[in-house]
Order: sequence, then structure tokens, then C-alpha cells
Amino acid sequence: MPKLAIQDVGEFDIPEGKRLVKAIEDSGVDILHRCGGYARCTTCRVEFLVGEPQMRTVAERDKLKERGESGVRLSCQCLVEEDMHVRVIHTLQSTNLDDPGATPEDNITPEPEWVPLEEK
Ligand code: FES
Repeated sequence: MPKLAIQDVGEFDIPEGKRLVKAIEDSGVDILHRCGGYARCTTCRVEFLVGEPQMRTVAERDKLKERGESGVRLSCQCLVEEDMHVRVIHTLQSTNLDDPGATPEDNITPEPEWVPLEEK
């Protein structure tokens, strides 16, 4: 079972293949996911310190490019398939929002089309 270390929070055993945003939330972190996990809002951004997945979805690639974001990943578009260490960027507590967003589905949405990380 992969281990997920969350900066300043702790380390957790995560079922292999679990959606990262769900793994973070189920570990007790109030991570934002304002679009419900559809690669539209970027509020679920994390920084990888260890174990960054080398594949990403086209939806993630295109959204981060559109927003001019680099050095971060969308946790709603990542699966926990190996040990990881991440830093969560936005939590509900760090904002004045009322809720983190609609609950993301268990599977990656929209239907993922995978491309290598280095593919621009
Ligand atoms: S981009 Fe909105 S929850 Fe991931």
C-alpha cells in the first residue's frame, strides 16, 4: 500500500490507485476542490516533493498551461500509485469560503486521456 506524506500533517497508508484529492481529504485535510474534480478550477493544486507521477491527463496539462501554472499538479487528476510526499496549497481553512466544493467522484473526471509529463 503506498504511503502518502502530507507536508505538516502526517503520513498515511493509501489504497493503491486512489484519486489523490480523495486521499488527501480522507486523511483529514480540508483541501479545496471547487469544480468537483473536473480539472477546471485548479484549487486542488499540490506541489510534489517526492513521487510526482510521470503521466498526466490532457485535461490537467491544458488547464495548467491555460493558467500559466508550473511546478504544481492538480490532485484531482492524479492517482496514488507509489509513495508520495506533497504540499497542499489551498485548504478551506486558509480561505473564507463556506465549503471546499462538490465531492469529487472516486474515478478521475473527465474520462482521463494520459500523456507523458514532459509532453507539452
Ligand atoms: S481542478 Fe477543480 S478540483 Fe481539481
